[in-house]
Amino acid sequence: MIFLGLLLAGFFIQSVESVCKHLGKPELPLFLKEGDIIIGGLFSFHGSFVGSNPTFENRPEPLKCKRLFAQTMMFTIEEINNSTEILPGISLGYKIYDACANIPRSIKAVLDLVNGQDNEFNSDMSCTKQSSVLSVIGQTSSSPMIGMATTIGPLRVPVISHLASCACLSNRKEFPSFFRTVPSDYYQSRALVQLVKHFRWTWVGAIRSDDDYGNSGMSTFVHTALQEGICIEYSESFSRTDPKKKILKVIEVIKQSTAKVIVAFMAQGEMAILMRELLLQNITGLQWVGSESWITARNLATDNGFKVLGGAIGFAIVSAVIPGLREFLLQIHPSDKPDNMFVKEFWEIVFGCSLTAQIGAEIKNPCTGNESLTEINNPYTDVSELRISNNVYKAVYAVAHSLHNLLVCEDRNNPISIKKCWNQINLEVFFDENGDPTARYELVNWQLNKNGLINCIVAYFVGRKLDSASHFTTVIYNYSTDCIKCPLDYWSNVKKDQCILKNIEFLSYGEILGMTLVTFSLIGAAVSVSVAVIFFSYRDTPIVKANNSELSFLLLFSLTLCFLCSLTFIGVPSDWSCMLRHTAFGITFVLCISCILGKTVVVLVAFRATLPGNNMMKWFGPTQQRISVCCFTLIQVMICTLWLILSPPSPSKNIQSYKEKIILECDLGSKIAFYTVLGYIGLLSAMCFLLSFLARKLPDNFNEAKYITFSMLIFCAVWITFIPAYISSPGKYTVAVEIFAILASSFGLLLCIFAPKCYVILFKPNKNTKKHLMRSRGSAGANPNQYRAQGRNQSWAG
Ligand SMILES: *[C@@H]1O[C@H](CO)[C@@H](O)[C@H](O)[C@H]1NC(C)=O
Ligand SMILES: *[C@@H]1O[C@H](CO)[C@@H](O)[C@H](O)[C@H]1NC(C)=O
Ligand SMILES: *[C@@H]1O[C@H](CO)[C@@H](O)[C@H](O)[C@H]1NC(C)=O
Ligand SMILES: *[C@@H]1O[C@H](CO)[C@@H](O)[C@H](O)[C@H]1NC(C)=O
Ligand SMILES: *[C@@H]1O[C@H](CO)[C@@H](O)[C@H](O)[C@H]1NC(C)=O
Repeated sequence: MIFLGLLLAGFFIQSVESVCKHLGKPELPLFLKEGDIIIGGLFSFHGSFVGSNPTFENRPEPLKCKRLFAQTMMFTIEEINNSTEILPGISLGYKIYDACANIPRSIKAVLDLVNGQDNEFNSDMSCTKQSSVLSVIGQTSSSPMIGMATTIGPLRVPVISHLASCACLSNRKEFPSFFRTVPSDYYQSRALVQLVKHFRWTWVGAIRSDDDYGNSGMSTFVHTALQEGICIEYSESFSRTDPKKKILKVIEVIKQSTAKVIVAFMAQGEMAILMRELLLQNITGLQWVGSESWITARNLATDNGFKVLGGAIGFAIVSAVIPGLREFLLQIHPSDKPDNMFVKEFWEIVFGCSLTAQIGAEIKNPCTGNESLTEINNPYTDVSELRISNNVYKAVYAVAHSLHNLLVCEDRNNPISIKKCWNQINLEVFFDENGDPTARYELVNWQLNKNGLINCIVAYFVGRKLDSASHFTTVIYNYSTDCIKCPLDYWSNVKKDQCILKNIEFLSYGEILGMTLVTFSLIGAAVSVSVAVIFFSYRDTPIVKANNSELSFLLLFSLTLCFLCSLTFIGVPSDWSCMLRHTAFGITFVLCISCILGKTVVVLVAFRATLPGNNMMKWFGPTQQRISVCCFTLIQVMICTLWLILSPPSPSKNIQSYKEKIILECDLGSKIAFYTVLGYIGLLSAMCFLLSFLARKLPDNFNEAKYITFSMLIFCAVWITFIPAYISSPGKYTVAVEIFAILASSFGLLLCIFAPKCYVILFKPNKNTKKHLMRSRGSAGANPNQYRAQGRNQSWAG
């Protein structure tokens, strides 16, 4: 309604001047078409300042005109003019000025638009005059827009911008007649925070262009980011008119910083300057997060641009296909508008030829007249990305629809009639109470494909203000097929233009780590067998006899299996190796620990047995030892059997842990079973450690209990350190760590329990006598009877 009212008010302007005439000389519009109703346009034709570093020694290069917004506006007006449905019988015209991206020029141009070309106003002295235009479409960037909207705000001529997105322009008090078809950065800044948060980037750098667009957008971003727990390492700004020193300083900050993600709330012009500097200094490998101004900019999306900005992600204005626009744009020819500087300049730039001779100089490379826009491919004719043009199109239609509505509703005082009129209208654009449209964005990502650099549309975002507070929702409602998602086993290559097979990782026999572990496990097994051979050869010597040799041989056998079971962890996981891995490990280790437990109990019992009147040995004789070892092991066998029956481990592909490789591993099947197996080993070893600790001071044969205590200490230490290492080491190293723990604890047991005895057997045969053993026991103060008990104990070992 406000919009409607403003349009009405726009017909009448109160001038504050008492003498009504232009102070300056009004300029002629760049494009002009008369009609019953004239719509003004204000665009920056010379938007791109790239490559123009004036040396002041020769004529500056002509500025590049590549913008097609004015043409889009002319097209739209012509379309509406042709249409019989909107504003039938009324001819529309336009006046379009070039305002550059410059504040004073914008103000001058907009005043020329409303005042018209006549130097003198009405002959009466009331100074009341119709605005020469009904409404103004423009300006392109936020800062000139603010200047312009402030100037003509009191005149109540509605201004509809297609690109000025600064949230500051939503202030209804300051800019009562400002509307726009581009969403306010209020939404974009917040959407960017959500984006950064989505990727869990918590440490980011911030760069902005030093104007209203960048400053306002970035301040909202920073404010919201801090609330969301995102830290900003630095926040730098520069403007394209700054001396080079300033830009180099920003580059230096980027180089010195540790943030790998940079949020750039920048206008295209500034971004182009920054990109050139980044390229010169080889600053690559950063993740850029961009604002809508540059994220889809054609002049940045070049091969060089991809080197520094490749993979950039950001929000873009939603694009649309406007039928007939391309044909309209291709019609443009200098011969149609011989006096139009813009068309001439445009032609010369596009074809690199000259249309007119400079006075006194030879005409260089004259245009042949055969040039045709249909035969070349340049950003002007490429209408596939009509993001901003679409906003111009919508702005013109908004004016036309509102006007149509105004003229159709005869009974303007009847509220029901007015409401009916509004409902009739299929407004493509609707403005909220701040003059803003619903925020719709496309999330785009810079990628390469076969045809070169493209901006893939990754998702669509719709932002809504939920209430007057800053509640904000974004809705992702679709994914585009611009970019293909690589199949599960594939990931994109460095250039991101192909899917390549992921590396497959597992611990193999071929690699150094695998070979080392295999070597150690074979050495361990060989040493165990050698010890068994030594013990067997010396089976009649007191030291072997005194150390319950049956348990010793069983222990050596189980240790050999422990060493060998580590081999099942290496190689491509198969059904069998997965099932074997943890069960073989669980059973051999329980066998091993229960042998040691048996030995410890023997030491304890043997001591008790030496006490007068005690007959304990009867209760833990050889038979009982065998039975207990069997029972302990059987429990583990049962657990493992249940595990294999109910939920057996199986080979699996882990694609979650790393995006660039697939880890082949064994899925445990049942975690509970795995931890029960481990827990049971833990329980037995804890028991063993406790008993051997109690028995460590008891006099026995060759301080067996002391060595067992020590070996259990090593065993427990290895497995306790194994747990955090197991959890934190990624991929194949998890398996390597497990093998390492198996080998280390097996070696610990082997060395602590058997090395001292082997040493005596092989190198100190003089200590390997009954007499010596008796003496050492005697010196320990034990009852000599013990030996008898031990001897009896050993009787079954022979
Ligand atoms: C609009 O249509 C009228 C005739 O109906 C024509 O004279 C005028 O040039 C047209 N204006 C534009 C902008 O096409
Ligand atoms: C408007 O109508 C004229 C004449 O029928 C046609 O040449 C022109 O292409 C139309 N313009 C648009 C934008 O549809
Ligand atoms: C940038 O990298 C290219 C090739 O990698 C190298 O030739 C050039 O010297 C580098 N420039 C700078 C400024 O380091
Ligand atoms: C322009 O095109 C015509 C016809 O194709 C050709 O005869 C003529 O030589 C061309 N002129 C130039 C300067 O290339
Ligand atoms: C978005 O559209 C694509 C095809 O255009 C479709 O495959 C996909 O399921 C849609 N996604 C959602 C979230 O609607």
